[in-house]
Amino acid sequence: MLIRKATIEDIPTLERLIPRSARELSAGYYTSEQIEAAIVHVFGVDSQLILDGTYFVAEMEGRIVGCGGWSKRRTLYGGDQMKSAIDPLLDARTEPARIRAFFIDPQWARRGIGSQIIKACEEAARDAGFSALDLVATLPGEPLYKAFGYEVIERFDLALPDDVMLPLARMRKPITPQHNA
Ligand SMILES: CC(C)(COP(=O)(O)OP(=O)(O)OC[C@H]1O[C@@H](n2cnc3c(N)ncnc32)[C@H](O)[C@@H]1OP(=O)(O)O)[C@@H](O)C(=O)NCCC(=O)NCCS
Repeated sequence: MLIRKATIEDIPTLERLIPRSARELSAGYYTSEQIEAAIVHVFGVDSQLILDGTYFVAEMEGRIVGCGGWSKRRTLYGGDQMKSAIDPLLDARTEPARIRAFFIDPQWARRGIGSQIIKACEEAARDAGFSALDLVATLPGEPLYKAFGYEVIERFDLALPDDVMLPLARMRKPITPQHNA
């Protein structure tokens, strides 16, 4: 398996992968109404991460089987459809970086692909001088992040159109900075 930085050319493939991943791997955690609302209003590619070089894809035999990234910008979750303004840069000395938008091909779930991407993200965030990582997890995402030492610091319901509520969890993990300031 190859983990590489995502490119703008990958976006159409990722836009097909993300709904498929969300539909199949969220079953049992969310209702189909919650999943469909999240696909429309929340889940998707944040193309700023691709431009920043902080979004990764996992490839098996040339086929994309997963994606996920980290961010040095303020936004905590959501694809391009959630953005309306410039996403400001975080201060690595005082603010946690973000872990963002992990989606694995259902046929490749529980084979360590999410783990490999998260390791690549943590290493890159550490190299960039960050000493903590924040994320907003879906309920199906929580077990992966817990396995990597992230702790829930807040639970909340995101209100989506048509009175759909999506339970999410904000999680955090300290990381040891690579270089002493
Ligand atoms: C969450 C997700 C990214 C996990 O990816 P993955 O490649 O299957 O995860 P891994 O195989 O690396 O799992 C690593 C560990 O995390 C935990 N874990 C992952 N998925 C789990 C699940 N469904 N149930 C319980 N534990 C789970 C386990 O401890 C696992 O280790 P193990 O398989 O040795 O028991 C994937 O399920 C997914 O794409 N879900 C749908 C989209 C989504 O909600 N993404 C999260 C956005 S915040």
